[in-house]
Amino acid sequence: MRVCSTPLLRKFWYCVAPSADLTDRPLGTRVLDQPVALWRDTDGTARAVIDRCLHRTARLSLGTVHGGNIVCPYHGWTFNGHGQCVKVPQLVEHRPNPFGVEAYHCAERYGYVWVALEEPLFDIPAIAEFGQPGWRQVHEFHEVWNASPQRIIENAFDPAHISFVHKDSFGRDDPSIDPFRIDDTPDGFVFTNVVKVVNAEHMKAALAMNDDETTRDSSNRFHLPFSRVGRIVYPNGLVHILCTFLTPIDDTRTRFTQFVVRNDTEADVPADTVVAFDRQVTREDLGILESTDPDVPLDRSEGTEVHMMSDRPGVAMRRQLRALMQQHTPPESAAAT
Ligand code: FES
Ligand SMILES: [Fe+2]
Repeated sequence: MRVCSTPLLRKFWYCVAPSADLTDRPLGTRVLDQPVALWRDTDGTARAVIDRCLHRTARLSLGTVHGGNIVCPYHGWTFNGHGQCVKVPQLVEHRPNPFGVEAYHCAERYGYVWVALEEPLFDIPAIAEFGQPGWRQVHEFHEVWNASPQRIIENAFDPAHISFVHKDSFGRDDPSIDPFRIDDTPDGFVFTNVVKVVNAEHMKAALAMNDDETTRDSSNRFHLPFSRVGRIVYPNGLVHILCTFLTPIDDTRTRFTQFVVRNDTEADVPADTVVAFDRQVTREDLGILESTDPDVPLDRSEGTEVHMMSDRPGVAMRRQLRALMQQHTPPESAAAT
C-alpha cells in the first residue's frame, strides 16, 4: 500500500499543525499529497481549502486573510471557509458566482488543527483524561519523518523491537515476548500487556523513580489508520498516556505529532525531562523506520514480508484497513477489479 494511492485514507482526521502556529496569516500544509491552505475566519474558527487557486493555481497559503476569508496573493480572488469565491477584485460590479475551491473538514482538538479531506469515518480519537483536574499535557514533537505512517504505527505496537532498537534506553537484553492480548474496537483495537523494562537514567528522571528495572502495565489503543493512545501505568502510580498521531504528507513522508497526558505536575517532573526521554526513544525508532520500505503490503498474498507471532498487532492493523477498504469500495470499481 502506498498511502497516496489509497482513497480510503482521505476519510480520516489528521493532525496538521499546532493551533498556536495558525495566527492571522494563512498556513500551508500537505495531506496525502494534497496541498492544503489553513486560516482562521472572523470567529477564530480554523478553515481548510485546497492550496491551489482556481484562477492560475497560485498557492492561497501565500496570501492573506481579509474579513475572515483567504485572499489569493496573485490577483486577489477571495474565498470563504466553504471554498466559495466571494470576490474577484477585477470585476467592477460584484456578482455572486458559482465557482469555488475544494474545502475540507477542519477542527481543533488537544491544541492542534486537524483536517479530513473527505467526510471522516470516525471522530478524532478520544482521550478521556485530557483536560481533567490532576492531569497535564506535555507537547513533545511535531516533525517530519521520512517513513510511511503504516510502518511508524505498526512499530508503536511491536513488542519485538524493544530489546534491539531500544537497547540503549529501556530495552532489556532479552528478546522473549511477554504475553499480550488484542481486543477489537469499532475503530481499531486495544493492545494490553505487562512488560519488564530497564529503568535507564533518563527514564528514572522522567518517571521520578529510582529502581533499576520497572514494569509497564500498558493498555494501548490503536485508532485507524495511524493513531496511538497508549496508557502506561508504572508501579509508583504514574500514568503516562502517549498520544501519537501520524499524518501522511505523501508516499514517503509523515508528519509525526506526539504529546503525553500525565497525572503528575511540573514540580514532580519538568516537561523538558519528560520530553528528553521520549526524544531518545523516538530517535532510536526513527533511525530504523526511515530505512524501511514505504510500500506496505496489506495482504499476505502480496507476499513480500514474513511475519512472526509478535507482529500480530501490525497484521491486525492491515486486516482492519483492508476490511474498511472493501467496505468503502464503490460497487462498480469492486466489479472492475
Ligand atoms: S491565481 Fe489566484 S487570483 Fe489569480
Ligand atoms: Fe520503539
